[in-house]
Amino acid sequence: MRATYLWQAGAAVTRCCRQQHIKTFTMSCTNASASYRSSATFVDYVAPSWANRLKCIPKQRVQLAMYNTPIHAWNIPGVPSDFQLSVKRDDLSGSTLSGNKVRKLEFLMADAANQQCTSVITAGGIQSNFARSTAVAARQVGMDCHLFLRSEISEPESIGCEGNLLLDRMVGAHIYLIPKKAQYERDIKVKMEKLAAKIEEDGGKAYCVPVGGSNVVGLFGYLEGFNELIQQNVLEDFDDLVFTTGSGGTAAGLAIGNYLTGSKLKCHAIAVCDDANYFHAHINKTLQEVGLGSETKSEDILDILEGAKGKVTECQRMKN
Ligand SMILES: Cc1ncc(COP(=O)(O)O)c(C=O)c1O
Repeated sequence: MRATYLWQAGAAVTRCCRQQHIKTFTMSCTNASASYRSSATFVDYVAPSWANRLKCIPKQRVQLAMYNTPIHAWNIPGVPSDFQLSVKRDDLSGSTLSGNKVRKLEFLMADAANQQCTSVITAGGIQSNFARSTAVAARQVGMDCHLFLRSEISEPESIGCEGNLLLDRMVGAHIYLIPKKAQYERDIKVKMEKLAAKIEEDGGKAYCVPVGGSNVVGLFGYLEGFNELIQQNVLEDFDDLVFTTGSGGTAAGLAIGNYLTGSKLKCHAIAVCDDANYFHAHINKTLQEVGLGSETKSEDILDILEGAKGKVTECQRMKN
């Protein structure tokens, strides 16, 4: 018996091969609606017992979605008949944001609110889903949002109102255009920090969220996502958990959850940008930050697959 979980746009596969039963599970989602209401509910956060030895456990989360998201079989053409795939439907989280982003934002927005921040600052591509999700979440918890968006266009009045830009504008996000070639660490982060200082001078307080929300706070979104699989009592049904990795937070949360619980699942991340070295370095840093760096490393708990990239993504451009 062998099983695999895919955690991305929502599907799980089971395969029977040479008398082996392989199941794969996928989770993801992207909703595209916005809300102006500041009706967020904050709840005290208690980490699962298997995670309570981690450092940096958040004290609260803000409820932005409805969990648990459903899991169902996904029958798609071309999948061998002896292979079963199922999907975890984070797109049905009921969130006004998006499935993949909202789990991290529940912890990030609570952290910002607990620090009495008045504004959230983040960055992304001109049509970034994460930037849009952050803008909506910030508004839901009563904060302003400032977005540094990469574009070939430098005139704000010329970027239009399409797609996520419309949603960004609907929730009143402040948009700053930055050149496509700008690098996150060298250029964009500096601009975010300068803006944070200006907001403080003006009497506010800003909370900077890294690209994709993939830091040690956002990590808990996908540790909780893994915990949800335990609550749904499906771990034993699958052999592999498969998901994509773009900024590394989803992969870090699922792989660390899998490691801490001693689950037999194998974790596989499909890199949609960068490469295995980049993501292993990111996750090894996270392991250090949560106090696991001396006992395991990313290379031991996560398989990263390259070669699935169709083209250079905005995410990759941000980091280069
Ligand atoms: C549906 C979905 N799953 C997973 C990911 C990867 O998330 P992360 O940025 O945490 O690596 C993305 C990234 O955009 C995504 O859209």
